[in-house]
Amino acid sequence: MRKKLIVYLFYRRTVRLLLVTAVSIFLLVRCMSDTAVADNAAPSFSDFAGSDKCMSCHQAVYDAHIKSAHYLTAKPAEEKWIHGSFEKGKNTYAYSELIRLFMERRDSGLFQVVHYKGEEKKAMRFDMVIGSGAKGQSFVTFRGDRFYQLPITFFTAANLWSNSPGYPAGKVVIDKPITARCLECHVTYAEGIGDNKMEPVSFNRQNIIYGVDCEKCHGPAAKHVTYQTENPTDTAAKFIVNTASLSRQQQLDLCALCHGGRIDKVTASFSYTAGDLLSDHFKIDTLNDEAVNNGNIDVHGNQYGLMRASKCFRMSSTMTCNTCHSPHENERGRKELFSQKCISCHAVTDSKFNSPSHKNVQMITNNCIDCHMPAQPSKAITVFLEGEEVPRASLVRSHFIGIYPEETKRTAVHKKTMY
Ligand code: HEC
Ligand code: HEC
Ligand code: HEC
Ligand code: HEC
Ligand code: HEC
Ligand code: HEC
Ligand code: HEC
Repeated sequence: MRKKLIVYLFYRRTVRLLLVTAVSIFLLVRCMSDTAVADNAAPSFSDFAGSDKCMSCHQAVYDAHIKSAHYLTAKPAEEKWIHGSFEKGKNTYAYSELIRLFMERRDSGLFQVVHYKGEEKKAMRFDMVIGSGAKGQSFVTFRGDRFYQLPITFFTAANLWSNSPGYPAGKVVIDKPITARCLECHVTYAEGIGDNKMEPVSFNRQNIIYGVDCEKCHGPAAKHVTYQTENPTDTAAKFIVNTASLSRQQQLDLCALCHGGRIDKVTASFSYTAGDLLSDHFKIDTLNDEAVNNGNIDVHGNQYGLMRASKCFRMSSTMTCNTCHSPHENERGRKELFSQKCISCHAVTDSKFNSPSHKNVQMITNNCIDCHMPAQPSKAITVFLEGEEVPRASLVRSHFIGIYPEETKRTAVHKKTMY
């Protein structure tokens, strides 16, 4: 019965390629091992405390953090975290007339169920949700200690289930592994199993710290919790990374770990911890200005590369991601707040603001963003909606802060000012 199911094993070649790359990196690292500087071993699960342990002493930070996209970016698969609908009529995606997939609640959990010619062929459990849902959510299923991406993703812009990003149209892909790198950007810690420390393919599903949690940015903190609990009168912090006191590059690197696009590891997965330099753990060759100027950097996932190429960054000595973003708050959509950050460096009383585009100063001070950091379609996150042959792209805010004449013409502010 099962054999009848048409499953297309599209990823074989990619896997082989990854293997070859992994082996060459392994050899390279062995050659360099004499000169290795960073702590190449990943911390262990017991080095972490988990954010619920921080609550009692850092209540305000904790309360804000649990509403952030970082905290919510990976969760065990419960219906309350999943934005797509399991209601009849809204819980399906048709690949073709013959192949259809259903999202179903069952006694043992939530499932993606493949039907071929109206007959159930395979049911795959939702085990982990990836994505807070700002743009979309992908899902992970566990098979033993291996993790796979489920074929169907939720696409927020259309409020619909869709084929997962990058998957071929009309085909059910069920064997795309979730890589260690994928987890490194969406969870704080996952414990790999086996000898391949750089790219483990198996994980201990009990020992995962979901989401981008406190300890991703402040370092593993079990010792800090123990010490401060046992020494309640000591008001100085011990065994914790004070992120604000790091150098500019260390601060940038902490964000670039996940917002620096495709960079290749040279040390064990999860061995980078807050305060390290990225260049001690990664081969960094994709973050050059040339790539940005040629449009080779995708707006998705490479805010660091784009920001670094902008004049604002190059001509100021202080700008980091935290100049505009508060690390613990959910500030999505608050254009006025972000525009205040621009104004902190660009006085609107400056003679430059006499230019035609800036004529309506009152209005522009509420929104510098749509003209200078327009939302642009990602080339990396595109999905096929049911029955559509052209993939839809997610829009991501460009961090190449610059002058965009075309975008300017489209904004409401401009129309009000010019006509
Ligand atoms: C028993 C109380 C207690 C617990 C639990 C606790 N902390 Fe702290 N933490 C403190 C004290 C005291 C300080 C020093 C005063 C301050 O900065 O608030 C501190 C400071 C910090 C700082 C600032 C570091 C600095 O140098 O200023 C960070 C970051 C931090 N804690 C993170 C965490 C994280 C993450 C957790 C949970 C894994 C946690 N703390 C759990 C008591 C605690
Ligand atoms: C371990 C990986 C990781 C690190 C480290 C990290 N981020 Fe993120 N960040 C993510 C992921 C993943 C998302 C997408 C969350 C989602 O919507 O699911 C995200 C989302 C964001 C967003 C969008 C928030 C929203 O409301 O949609 C901002 C802003 C951001 N990160 C800034 C930062 C800054 C600043 C730093 C450094 C202090 C940082 N990030 C460090 C992984 C990371
Ligand atoms: C290099 C780090 C990195 C890797 C690797 C990575 N992501 Fe992401 N992902 C991000 C960041 C950063 C964002 C949000 C910001 C953006 O879109 O630029 C994001 C956004 C997402 C979103 C949309 C979240 C939302 O709420 O809108 C999904 C879903 C997602 N990633 C799934 C995955 C899956 C599945 C994998 C692995 C197969 C993966 N990502 C690999 C960094 C990464
Ligand atoms: C995305 C990275 C990130 C995450 C996640 C994060 N922090 Fe922070 N945290 C920072 C940065 C960056 C600063 C320094 C901000 C500044 O420059 O003033 C900071 C500052 C702090 C401080 C000292 C200043 C203050 O605001 O009181 C404490 C305490 C703290 N964080 C605790 C936590 C706790 C507890 C959590 C989880 C509930 C957490 N952080 C999650 C990045 C993060
Ligand atoms: C840390 C200070 C700082 C911040 C914050 C900042 N900028 Fe800049 N920006 C600069 C400097 C310095 C320059 C180069 C000198 C100049 O043109 O004024 C610049 C240049 C620019 C330019 C000219 C770009 C070009 O390619 O010619 C634009 C447009 C701009 N900024 C817009 C913004 C906007 C919009 C924001 C907020 C989202 C912002 N800036 C935030 C410092 C900053
Ligand atoms: C000059 C101000 C500024 C700086 C510096 C800055 N950002 Fe942003 N960022 C913004 C604005 C404005 C938005 C759009 C916010 C919105 O619409 O909710 C944004 C949005 C984001 C998003 C969500 C993108 C999307 O479309 O979903 C991520 C992720 C992000 N920033 C990460 C970073 C990282 C990482 C850095 C440092 C490398 C950084 N930002 C530096 C202003 C800034
Ligand atoms: C309606 C679109 C629009 C808005 C809103 C807008 N700008 Fe601009 N900005 C432009 C354009 C277009 C230019 C290029 C010069 C021109 O045509 O006026 C520009 C130029 C600039 C420059 C470079 C000036 C120079 O001569 O080097 C800076 C800096 C700048 N803007 C900052 C801002 C800041 C800060 C805000 C928010 C307070 C803002 N802009 C709001 C469209 C806009």
